[in-house]
Amino acid sequence: MKAARILLGIALLLSHFFKANSQSITWSEVMPGVWKGVVGSPEAYDLLKAAGTSPNMEALTKLGKADFPFVQQNIVASLRDGKTQLRFPLEKNEQLYGFGLNFQTVHQRGKILELHVDHYGGKDNGRTHAPTPFYISSNGYGVFINTARYLKVWAGTGVRKDSENFPTPKDRNTDKTWASRPYSDAVEFQVPAAGVEIYVFAGPKPLDAIKRYNLFNGGGYLPPKWGLGFTQRVMTRFTAAEVEKEIYTFKEKGYPLDFVGLEPGWQSKAYPGTFTWDMGRFPNPQKFVADMLNKGIRLNLWLNPYVSPDAPFYKEILPLTSSHTVWLGVVPDLTLPKARALFFSQLQQNQIEIGVSGYKIDEVDGYDHYLWPDVATFPSGLSAEQMRQTYGLLMQRYTAEIFKKRNQRTFGLVRASNGGGTSFPYVLYNDYYNHEDFITALINSGFAGVLWTPEVRASKTGEEWLRRFQSNVFSPMAMINAWSSGTKPWSYPEVEKQVKSFALLRMQMMPYWYTEFAKYHFEGTPPFRAMNLEDGFNQQLNTEKANLNLEENPYAEAVSKEIKDQYMAGEYLLVAPMFTGQVTRKVVLPKGKWYDFYTGEFAGEGTVITVTPGLDKIPVYVKDGGIIPMMPAMLHAPKSGEKIDLEIRYYGEKPGQYLLYDDDGETFNYEKGQYSWRQINIQRTANGIKGNISAPEKNKPNTLGKIIWTLMTKS
Ligand code: GAL
Repeated sequence: MKAARILLGIALLLSHFFKANSQSITWSEVMPGVWKGVVGSPEAYDLLKAAGTSPNMEALTKLGKADFPFVQQNIVASLRDGKTQLRFPLEKNEQLYGFGLNFQTVHQRGKILELHVDHYGGKDNGRTHAPTPFYISSNGYGVFINTARYLKVWAGTGVRKDSENFPTPKDRNTDKTWASRPYSDAVEFQVPAAGVEIYVFAGPKPLDAIKRYNLFNGGGYLPPKWGLGFTQRVMTRFTAAEVEKEIYTFKEKGYPLDFVGLEPGWQSKAYPGTFTWDMGRFPNPQKFVADMLNKGIRLNLWLNPYVSPDAPFYKEILPLTSSHTVWLGVVPDLTLPKARALFFSQLQQNQIEIGVSGYKIDEVDGYDHYLWPDVATFPSGLSAEQMRQTYGLLMQRYTAEIFKKRNQRTFGLVRASNGGGTSFPYVLYNDYYNHEDFITALINSGFAGVLWTPEVRASKTGEEWLRRFQSNVFSPMAMINAWSSGTKPWSYPEVEKQVKSFALLRMQMMPYWYTEFAKYHFEGTPPFRAMNLEDGFNQQLNTEKANLNLEENPYAEAVSKEIKDQYMAGEYLLVAPMFTGQVTRKVVLPKGKWYDFYTGEFAGEGTVITVTPGLDKIPVYVKDGGIIPMMPAMLHAPKSGEKIDLEIRYYGEKPGQYLLYDDDGETFNYEKGQYSWRQINIQRTANGIKGNISAPEKNKPNTLGKIIWTLMTKS
């Protein structure tokens, strides 16, 4: 009796203790299909505050109302040790995507990650350039944790003893179906703060949840047209004369070029930087930039934000910087208006006002050995951790703001971003340089609300150069980063012809790229994304234990099959890059008919094909009824208002439809309605095709010249 009473007492005490820790979540539907849950007392500073963007209400409203995507009560929160713990339900057949810019896998179920801004170090452990705390479920919803802390995720690994779905334990000695990772029915997070905001995005499809997330963060950035052309980053200590010569050579050889990147050598000192021109290499910056613009070339300047004692604003900014330095440069506390005014007015007056078109914001991600340590302090009182998680966001936000005020679009590069950064005019890149993993990152960028470029630097062989170049042309930024190698598109003579044809193809496809980026902006659809988001692609979790040798490795895991080497580019294209040494490859074609991009021939339907494309091609396929608008292979992007001839390519047999976007390509006047969507319809006839395009609306931009209709699928 006595023992029973004691036990009851302990049980009551435990349940009381447990309740004291468990937290109710206050839910509200903040926009159609978007819910916010508040746990405990969220911190004043978080990712959304750092990004400071506002939702695209109109587009979210258009997506419409939806039900909460699962049982709300199944989200459980608790507070222990000053940390918030969150648990989200996970069904047996669910696959998970996202959790930031991962490089090696697309499927994230079973991962344990610490989401932490860093330079990618070769392992998918959560430390990456954009560790966006956002995941998407194959069941069609998304979850975002709005915190500027390093947070831990167990994406379906822990099994609680009180789980309603507790699996039946099995005997490994005798039971072949024993699993080293039994079914876990939860995604769990630990956030080192006494409260947090969470957001849930409805589907019904996974792509809908992504669209809602992107629109909630303002929608993707609409780049200027020139941003979608070709860019070359020149060697770090190039002089004005050398840059001019390089540009001349591009023109002379007939290679497209829209903007040129100057690397650290444009500054009088770098690492840490002065943010002023080097007068030896660039004796007259103003004239140099103006001459470039006259030739149709924009300039993009490299910088990292660490300030040299020789910077003109050093003394004034010094009290507004971190306790710790980076390469002995001081780190401005960009959450302080005065620090921002000093730092950004230098960029504005010295560079942007003389015509510089954008930046490459380097080294805001990490490498623990050079960045400020977690014990650093900042004058605003924000922690080193919060600053590290958001520094990339802050740099993007405030540089973008300068251009926005000038009604001028920019497009540049950045090495760190995070949740909330979707609408910034930047593409992520890094130094890791692994072609295969670059493609997986490109796929995952679509889950992380960011853009990624598989940049080309140098290669061991012409084959590698060409293969990397081909992928790069089907990415958000077509770029050679020759800062140290000095390579040019034509550096490998054995593949020069092919490289040139792909550089020109990039330009020809500009109407398609531009429209697809407009969809990113207005509708939230990522222009580059995983096959898993494509209708007709099988997303089921594959739990088959193929080729596992459990005797040799008793804990070997059944890995579900994933496609991480092919992706969707825009509405209609499926791109399957070739890697060095590969002669053939398999391509998974989802349900529905697919056609060869180059020839229009039927390629397959809901099947896996094996292709041997030769060096001249990167395998690309078009969906049935696909329409690809193309322009002549110009060497520069069309200027504002310039009339351009259009070739409208049509593939397959289904009636084709496409909405073609256009505006001035340079300003934000589209926000005042200065844009047009023109409807293209194509139908097959007995001996060809019949196509029409809607007339331009009154007082809207009309830039179309002659139109040619091309039937690609002949038979
Ligand atoms: C690296 C960057 C390179 C190049 C270089 C210049 O950090 O990733 O692309 O800009 O700095 O020093």
